[in-house]
Amino acid sequence: MASRKIAGLRTIVTGASSGIGQQIAIELAKQGAKLIVTARRAERLADLLAEIKSFDGDAVSVVGDIVDPRTRVSLVEAASREFGGLDAVVNNAGIGALGPFVNADEARNRTVMEVNFFAPVELIRLAVPLLREGNRPIIVNVSSVLGHRAVANKSEYCASKFAMHGFSDALRCELAGEGIDVLIVSPSTTSSEFFDHVTDREGNATVHTRHAMSPHVVARKTVRAIRRGKHEIILTAGGRALVWFDRLCPPLMNRVLARFR
Ligand SMILES: NC(=O)c1ccc[n+]([C@@H]2O[C@H](COP(=O)([O-])OP(=O)(O)OC[C@H]3O[C@@H](n4cnc5c(N)ncnc54)[C@H](OP(=O)(O)O)[C@@H]3O)[C@@H](O)[C@H]2O)c1
Repeated sequence: MASRKIAGLRTIVTGASSGIGQQIAIELAKQGAKLIVTARRAERLADLLAEIKSFDGDAVSVVGDIVDPRTRVSLVEAASREFGGLDAVVNNAGIGALGPFVNADEARNRTVMEVNFFAPVELIRLAVPLLREGNRPIIVNVSSVLGHRAVANKSEYCASKFAMHGFSDALRCELAGEGIDVLIVSPSTTSSEFFDHVTDREGNATVHTRHAMSPHVVARKTVRAIRRGKHEIILTAGGRALVWFDRLCPPLMNRVLARFR
């Protein structure tokens, strides 16, 4: 667990065109990191680059679908070409799916797992050789409190975040001897475009966004955790309570959560 300076940190940020990823990119750039930002929406990335330039930040963009292996190769190549190396990867791009599992199809399950699990872990596989040569390197995986405790009507999403959680714990142990940190970030509900893009919404699964966090707060806490070399952060008191009650008494949480769908 290494503390590090953000200034000069050569970092890839995925899902930087909106929400949490956009705010993480801005926060990192304000503190002097050098960024490769990526997402599919080119115009959003252009706006982000303009904003980062307005305060003399340093960023370049790679437009593409993170599920496409060519995008992932381009990201690592861009870090090498533009900055001569890589110190951090922030895997943030993600999508949700709402509604009962049995009413959905295999495609929904595969899409969620491709974006939320297979793409980020394959980006990590590509990035590790460069990270090994980086300064105080770190891998940051943006997961969710739903990667600690699953709930109804988000089965594929919870599965993808549980997978990311287990993967991150395993990878942290594997890479510890090489000095590469692995941080897993678990936000609670956050106000972003996330719920506008959930796949196969049937309208019968409710989302409570009244007490949602702001992406800016998530970003600030994430960048602080990167700086301090944390391994895991759960961002809200409610999220921490959910996780701890579930660990203390899973049958009770199963009964409670079965009533709130
Ligand atoms: N919002 C919440 O309540 C919440 C709670 C806990 C955890 N999280 C997690 O936080 C992360 C960010 O979510 P958010 O709330 O900021 O949502 P968001 O505003 O919808 O942002 C999602 C980002 O992911 C990118 N993305 C999605 N699919 C992609 C693909 N196939 N290829 C490349 N980029 C892709 C989007 O860019 P393009 O569309 O331009 O490609 C966008 O930049 C996700 O991993 C999510 O699971 C969110």
